[in-house]
Amino acid sequence: MSARNPVWNPEQYFRFADERLQPAIDLMGRIVHPGPAVVVDLGCGAGNALPLLAGRFPGAAVSGVDGSTTMLARAAEGGFATRQADIATWRPDAPVDVLFSNAALQWLPAHETLFPRLLSQVAPGGVLAVQMPAMDATPARRLQREVAAEGPWATALAGATASPSILEMGAYYRLLRPMVKRLDLWFTEYVHLLKGPDPVMQWFMGSSLQPYVQALPEALRPAYLAAYADAVRPHYPAEADGTVLFPFRRFFLMASL
Ligand SMILES: C[S@@+](CC[C@H](N)C(=O)[O-])C[C@H]1O[C@@H](n2cnc3c(N)ncnc32)[C@H](O)[C@@H]1O
Repeated sequence: MSARNPVWNPEQYFRFADERLQPAIDLMGRIVHPGPAVVVDLGCGAGNALPLLAGRFPGAAVSGVDGSTTMLARAAEGGFATRQADIATWRPDAPVDVLFSNAALQWLPAHETLFPRLLSQVAPGGVLAVQMPAMDATPARRLQREVAAEGPWATALAGATASPSILEMGAYYRLLRPMVKRLDLWFTEYVHLLKGPDPVMQWFMGSSLQPYVQALPEALRPAYLAAYADAVRPHYPAEADGTVLFPFRRFFLMASL
């Protein structure tokens, strides 16, 4: 675990596997490349996108890179090549034709230097294809911070934070447009239909609540989570059948050399 990349729990993350995989499917569907030889999934996690990338690009050598041993252990079960590395310092053995990343780069800081560095690992004619959640301003994410700042856990959580904010879209444009032949940027807001008790909390227990939970002594965790669930519930009311409609905005970036 690092300060920014928590210990990941694949079971919790994949309680909402279909919802989390759909943006990866949408992202790879938009990639235009005549026939990549090398495809890398950066922050591949448990490897769910790897078989889909292999299907999308037959004949390519598809591999995954991730920092989490728990996630990579699951990814290895799929039979794809994986490498444990910090994306911030990772270097491929050879230039990559399709550098793909779904819901991972938001965990890394300093996108002003990270994105040009990643682009420099892409082969001529290649593509950098990225999806990152754009949820920082929503009640669900704001309340993680606000609840953390109040209550008996406040001191323990003073330094805790989930993934740093992604840049505003214009910053990616100004950074990357001069470096590429073509740049596509877009947002998609999915509406996830969630079931079960406190599903928004359960969703983020698989991702951005983990840095808070892991910074707390065990004894304080239930109280922090209960306070977060109470605060977030009115913002995402259940329908008569118990379904919670959870809008989830995602930012997509496709840079083609
Ligand atoms: C939300 S999961 C996404 C996993 C996968 N891409 C998917 O769509 O299911 C984020 C992944 O990014 C990885 N990650 C975050 N920061 C990282 C870093 N600095 N270096 C390597 N992997 C990192 C985490 O270990 C985690 O597996």
